[in-house]
Amino acid sequence: MAAKMSKKISAASARSHTRKTKQKTSISLLSGMFGKIVAVFFVGFLAYAYRAIQPPPPKICGTPDGPPVTAPRIKLSDGRYLAYKEHGVSRDEAKHKIVFIHGYDSNRHDAVVATGLSPEVVESLGVYIVSIDRPGYGESDPNPKRTVKSLAFDVQELADQLGLGSKFYVIGFSMGGQAVWTLLKYIPHRLAGAALLAPVTNYWWPNFPANLSKEAFSHQLPQDRWNLRVAHYLPWLTCWWNTQKFFPACSAAAYNPGALSSQDLELMPTYRARTDLYAQVRQQGQHESLHRDLMIGFGTWEFDPMDLENPFPNKEGSVHLWQGDEDKLVPVTLQRYIAQRQPWIQYHEIPGAGHMFPVLDGMADKIVKSLLIGEKNVS
Ligand SMILES: *[C@@H]1O[C@H](CO)[C@@H](O)[C@H](O)[C@H]1NC(C)=O
Repeated sequence: MAAKMSKKISAASARSHTRKTKQKTSISLLSGMFGKIVAVFFVGFLAYAYRAIQPPPPKICGTPDGPPVTAPRIKLSDGRYLAYKEHGVSRDEAKHKIVFIHGYDSNRHDAVVATGLSPEVVESLGVYIVSIDRPGYGESDPNPKRTVKSLAFDVQELADQLGLGSKFYVIGFSMGGQAVWTLLKYIPHRLAGAALLAPVTNYWWPNFPANLSKEAFSHQLPQDRWNLRVAHYLPWLTCWWNTQKFFPACSAAAYNPGALSSQDLELMPTYRARTDLYAQVRQQGQHESLHRDLMIGFGTWEFDPMDLENPFPNKEGSVHLWQGDEDKLVPVTLQRYIAQRQPWIQYHEIPGAGHMFPVLDGMADKIVKSLLIGEKNVS
């Protein structure tokens, strides 16, 4: 009886054990499947996210899928082509040779100083200007290996191939003005003089007092602050950030009126009207032009312009910095600080001016004359 009972019990317990095992198995089977589904979704999401943040390849000028080459170009030592445009008197007649470097979202046609210069100044001073397409813009090949430094050597190679001589002048506007700092750093011995027009400041240059750059940064539009933070801290996300539709991206690219001073709003139609050749600006894609600019300009620099030495200790040339005091894109407070730290820079602050002041009537003449012949009575 006892044996029977125990058999029964064991049979029952065995059955219940089996049931439990079945339940457990189906639960673990379910959770196993759920886990797998989650894992598959997660991997899928990662793959999607990875693809989403990959910039599309550029459409390189002169390749079968790319835009045609229409500009004169030089071949650089690493095989890239650099496009340029010549203005003013011919190279042979020139008494003063200037290289012009354009800003963000622009190209060689938009050489604000060259296009605004009066024929009298061009003739009397024998001014020759060559404007370039910075790498990735217009018809210049992209430079995925671009650094803060590389543009200085691109410009030097251009000057040598065009035979501009041992020294030449350089003028840069906005992000092109920022690039002029790199020429002053790496090839100062090749420069006869330099003018920086509303050069873009980098909030992370270490010599800015933290409270000053913080205060200046806080005056930027919220979307610009986020865009610059992404470019500085997460440069690999820059392309996605600037092309996604969830958050507004960079106001300079979107021509957001909120980022323009009242004078800039007035000048904007003039500025845009001159840009019938603008279609070329981004024709090779936005990543190697616009996004690369942000990643370099607001990235971590190899040097700080406030540490530069005076390139002309014997006054054999001059460096000029021009800035509007109502510029909403480049904070005047930071520019003043740079000018104060670097007394060898001739600082011209233009009252009431925004970021676009180089297109004001007569401004190109002032800028060029002060650079070439040191004319006083400017601004
Ligand atoms: C930053 O701090 C310095 C020294 O403490 C002070 O003189 C200056 O006014 C401050 N600047 C700003 C913008 O707060």
